[in-house]
Formats: sequence, C-alpha cells, structure tokens
Amino acid sequence: MIKVKKRRVLLLPGDGIGPEVIAEVKKVINWFNEKKSLDFEIDEDLVGGISFDKHGTPLTDEVFYKALESAVIMLGAVGGPKWDGVEFSKKPERALLKLRKELKLFANLRPAICFEQLVNASTLKPEIVSGLDILIVRELTGGVYFGEPRGIKPIENGERKGVNTHTYTSNEIIRVARVAFDLAKKRSNRVISCEKSNVMEAGQLWKEEVQSLHDKDYKDVELSHMLADNCAMQLVRNPKQFDVILTDNLFGDMLSDEASMLTGSLGLLPSASLGAKNKDGEMRAMYEPIHGSAPDIAGKGVANPIASILSFAMALRYSLDLDKEAEALEKAVQQALNDGLRTKDIMSDKMKEVSTSQMGDAIISKLQ
Ligand code: IPM
Ligand code: MG
Repeated sequence: MIKVKKRRVLLLPGDGIGPEVIAEVKKVINWFNEKKSLDFEIDEDLVGGISFDKHGTPLTDEVFYKALESAVIMLGAVGGPKWDGVEFSKKPERALLKLRKELKLFANLRPAICFEQLVNASTLKPEIVSGLDILIVRELTGGVYFGEPRGIKPIENGERKGVNTHTYTSNEIIRVARVAFDLAKKRSNRVISCEKSNVMEAGQLWKEEVQSLHDKDYKDVELSHMLADNCAMQLVRNPKQFDVILTDNLFGDMLSDEASMLTGSLGLLPSASLGAKNKDGEMRAMYEPIHGSAPDIAGKGVANPIASILSFAMALRYSLDLDKEAEALEKAVQQALNDGLRTKDIMSDKMKEVSTSQMGDAIISKLQ
C-alpha cells in the first residue's frame, strides 16, 4: 500500500492552456512556501497528449505512482484535436479517467458561483443569475463511464455494436450522497438528487438509496428528487432554486457544464475530486479547473488562471486543512477582479485586459 505524503503537491499541467494556468498555481504555491513558511513539496510531470507524444501513453506508471503518493494533484487540462486519431485506450482523456478510478476519487465537487463583478457576462438575465451559488456533487468513478461490458464489436451483416453499461451499487451511491449531505449542512442545507428513475433501474436504486440514507442519518437536511432532464431545464429557468445538486457521473458531466455557463465564465470555476479518508485521516484528491485545454488559445498568454488558482484554494481547504489560507486566496482573486483586471475571456468595457501571468501576479500581490 502506497502511503500518501501529506504535503506533496503533484502538478500535472497537461495539454493546451494547462501549462500556462498551472504555472500561475505554481507561483501561488511558492508564495505560500516563502511568505507563510508552508512546506509544500512540489513535483511536476506530464499527463495527457503531451505524455503520449513523449512516452506513447497518456499516463506513465511513474507518474501514476507519483500521483498515488501525493496528497494533492493539480491538473491543468488534457486533450485536443491533435490526438483525435489516437487509439481509444491511448487518448489523453484516458489518463484523467484512470487517475479518477484508480485513486478512487468518487466525489467530484463543482461549484457554480456567479461573481458579482461578472453578472453581465452570463447569457442569462442578470436577475436570474445574480447571487447564484450552486454546488454540484457528481459521482466520479461509477456509472456508464466505467461499467462493463463495454466496447465495439462486430455483429451480423457487417454491422458493429457499441456497448456501454450504466451500473451503480448501493455503496457507490451512499458514499457520494453522504458527501453531498455533509456539504449541504455547511451551506443552505438543501440537496436535490437527480437521476432518471422513470426509465433506468440504476436511477431507481439511486433515488431509493439517497432517500433511505437521508431518513437514517440526515433528516435535518432538506432532500428532494428531480429527474435529470427536468433539472437541465430548471437550471436555466430558475437556477437559484438549487443549493446542492447530487447526481451520477454522466448527468453530472452534463449538468455541470450547463451550470458553469450560468456564471458566464468557464474560466473561473474550480473543481475538486475527493477520495475517502483512510484510518489515518489521509485522503487522495485531485483539483482541476472546469475548463478544458482550449487549444485555440494555447500558448498565447491569454488564458484565465483564476479557475486553477481557485482550485488550489479548494485544495488548501479540503486536503490541507488550511481554511484561512483558502479564504485569503479567494479574497485575493475577488480583489483583483474588483480592481477591474480581466483576462480576455471575461473582458468588458472600461476594464483592464491582462495576460495569464499578469493576472497571477496581481492575485499574488493581493495576498501580501
Ligand atoms: C469533465 C470532462 C471529462 C469527463 C472528460 C475530459 C473525460 O468533460 O471533467 O467534465 O467527461 O468527465
Ligand atoms: Mg465535462
């Protein structure tokens, strides 16, 4: 059994704009080390397409073992059109899925918060999104992403059949539901659980297990159930009705993309993927911006580093028990925005456009 090293932070910048945004995270970590005498040990390595180009695999065993012994993994982004033709098992995304699955990071936290400074950046009316603060808790190691059997196989008449299987066990549902209920208690105390219990047995089990866990251990949290298609609709109709949304891997993938656009700015939203605590209280976790590798703007210094920096704030809070430092970092981000600094993706009238590294530097200067 590989032990988790408590202060070990593994940077996996990956592809596209990943290296640019993770470089800013590295500056932030170094700042905490120098100015706050924190003792984060940084390591850095390849993942995704860039690893495939160099080693013929999107995740080498060496990097995988480094990941296993790191308390915190900061991932940038993986993938891009360059690797479209690569065989399925070697695609950049497989690295991400392997890390999630093998590190047992079953709870994916995706906050969708509408920053007051950017209310007008949303495609929805300001009054619909102003003050929005949703937390999506997405199950991350089960469901159709990993179910067996899977594959593409030949059938009669020269046709082929693609197969994926959607499965959930009681325990897989209960452990992620527990995370959602616990987090709801620290927020507005409401959980809406989403599935398709009207068409899927796995959805019916989901609903039953969430309800019975609630009745057993979380009676004080307000729980309701919503069909996932209805949830997609309600998210654009009246998003502020939601506090915590609990859902499975595939629905969570889609609903979190939808929710992130309510905030107008994919470049601002962080995420955390958490495992279970072991008996020594240690936990593995990976943090990454919600946005992808954005190959069209890669290497130009225009990417927004805020989502990655806020992902590190989540790491400070959830993995490193440094709540005060997390708050300080989040406040520094707000102050940089209050000063009118904007990267290209969130640029608007009368604001000052800054590059990726200028934004990083500005946030660090607010930490002082
Ligand atoms: C996400 C992404 C991933 C997913 C891809 C890159 C495999 O869309 O984290 O939401 O589908 O989970
Ligand atoms: Mg997605």
